Amino acid sequence: MPRYSDELIADIFAANNIVDYVSKYVVLKKRGSDYSGLCPIQSEKTPSFHVNADKQLFYCFGCGAGGNLVQFVMRTENLDFTEALKLLADNAGIALPEKTGSYDDVHHKKRARIYEMNIVAARFFRDCLLDADKGAEALRYFSERKISRKTINHFGLGYAPDTYDALLAHLKSYGFTDDEAVDASLAVRRDGKVYDKFRDRVMFPIIDVRGNIIGFGGRIIRDSKNSDFKPPKYLNSGETAAFDKGKNLFAMNFAKRADISRLVLVEGYMDVISVYQAGIKNVVATLGTALTQDQAKFMSRYAKEILICYDMDEAGRKAALRAVDIFSAESVRTKIVKLKGAKDPDEYINRHGIAMFKTALDSAVPSTEFRLSLLRPENDINTTEGKIGFVKDAAKVLATVGDSVEVDAYINNISAETGIAKEAIYAEYKKYVSAKTGKQAASPVRRISRGAGAASLPLQPPTAKTEGELINIIAQDRKVYTAVKDIMKPEDYSTETLRKLAALIYQKQSEGKEPDFAAVMNEFSDDPQVQSEASSVLYVIKKYGNRRDAAEQMVRKILLGKNEAQIAEHKNDIQKLGELIKEQTEIKNMKLIWE
Ligand code: UTP
Ligand code: MN
Repeated sequence: MPRYSDELIADIFAANNIVDYVSKYVVLKKRGSDYSGLCPIQSEKTPSFHVNADKQLFYCFGCGAGGNLVQFVMRTENLDFTEALKLLADNAGIALPEKTGSYDDVHHKKRARIYEMNIVAARFFRDCLLDADKGAEALRYFSERKISRKTINHFGLGYAPDTYDALLAHLKSYGFTDDEAVDASLAVRRDGKVYDKFRDRVMFPIIDVRGNIIGFGGRIIRDSKNSDFKPPKYLNSGETAAFDKGKNLFAMNFAKRADISRLVLVEGYMDVISVYQAGIKNVVATLGTALTQDQAKFMSRYAKEILICYDMDEAGRKAALRAVDIFSAESVRTKIVKLKGAKDPDEYINRHGIAMFKTALDSAVPSTEFRLSLLRPENDINTTEGKIGFVKDAAKVLATVGDSVEVDAYINNISAETGIAKEAIYAEYKKYVSAKTGKQAASPVRRISRGAGAASLPLQPPTAKTEGELINIIAQDRKVYTAVKDIMKPEDYSTETLRKLAALIYQKQSEGKEPDFAAVMNEFSDDPQVQSEASSVLYVIKKYGNRRDAAEQMVRKILLGKNEAQIAEHKNDIQKLGELIKEQTEIKNMKLIWE
């Protein structure tokens, strides 16, 4: 990761106000310098998400996610630190220097060049589609498929003409070379010659969440004239410096603007386009490959429920079941949409209309129920043998369900359905859980935690909360810092994060500088869990009747807590115990010395 100077980072922060930026995602209600709204990281019904204009921090009291503006951008846009910083720099019109010669630099330049080339190519394809001569047939193709002009414009659809070098010639006129076109997967090299990769195909630009065109999909519009050679129905860009099929999703850039707590996942580009045209805008598709874990993770950052709306054939059903498995590792709810009398969503909408499609979405079956329903035809539950078989198979299915409330509900249903006792079903379920993971079954009520935002803190030492409050008060008041600094040194705090936070705040106070919380948070850029712990300390500024008394009580409480832990640890060492008990009395009588 290139490291930018603190000054540059400070400039970028100064030029972007966290409240303005977050307002693009969340409706915020103002109260003093504090703003609150519904958490965009973990969906919720009551607003526990807060943004503070003075501190330039956000913190969600619901899911614990917190941090500064760059960290907010990282979470919501799924970017790394450098990319998020770049986005904010762009927003503010600040140029970021590249570290010349580094891998990052070369890679970024290559990628930027491909983005530029792809824009030129997308415009070219669009112009060809709208060209009365060249594009007539392609345009007719779209209209036969009931794709409106508006939709064509919205998705930037185009047409790659039936020649070997039309795009190449066009790219060259913009100063791009053969090699660059090949690197961008817009051209192919064969026998030393370079040709357009996409020929006589309708074109679908693939756009990432930042709005870059990262690649293309192209579909044939007629049967091949040559009966020996059948070209693939769809051709996609190969992997390039800009295009990673396993990490991106078609139309996520549009879905992101819609209500995204629920996402519809379909198989094909044409499905996305039809569904979107029907007014359902939270729809995405993979890019010609099966769903990957990265894509599931990506979606789960935005959505808490995925409606899997795959093709109705055997392959589609299998792919849907695999997708359910992949999502279950991300603790996101999935439902299966069943479309009767059509092979895919696009065909369904064209045959049965939008209203019926919406009904089908609303009647989507929770994936666990769907999987259980597949077991019923295999086991006749009117027989004892069938009941046993069904319960065993069902227990196996339930063992993959992450949410124990859900498991419990299904066990109740299965018990009612079969007459087999809940306890017996639970025992069977537990057997599969431990066989699967080697771990204990989920404890009775576990909150569904999603993605990084919902990181629940690991078991904290008993004094950690008070230590956090002490750091907070030290950050507010240099006199408290002076009185406390030799009694509680940064290394005396009981977690890694608190020690780091204390060191940073102490440093600023010792230099006589006001601690800048947003800048402090930049030191915690990697781990959302650590960010959450650090921002929970910094976010709330508590008011104390008397700060000095409060600080003194905190120090005493922390020292006593540590002393108590040591007493427990040395309870068989009489001599040590004597010392510790003496120390306890000293702590109780301790007074801070104020300048
Ligand atoms: P489908 O064959 O289901 O296509 O492939 P579709 O979207 O229904 O297409 P239409 O309705 O016939 O136009 C689903 C997805 O699989 C990928 C594409 O991403 C496609 O959208 N695919 C399919 C390929 O990459 N190559 C192929 O040859 C076929
Ligand atoms: Mn189709």
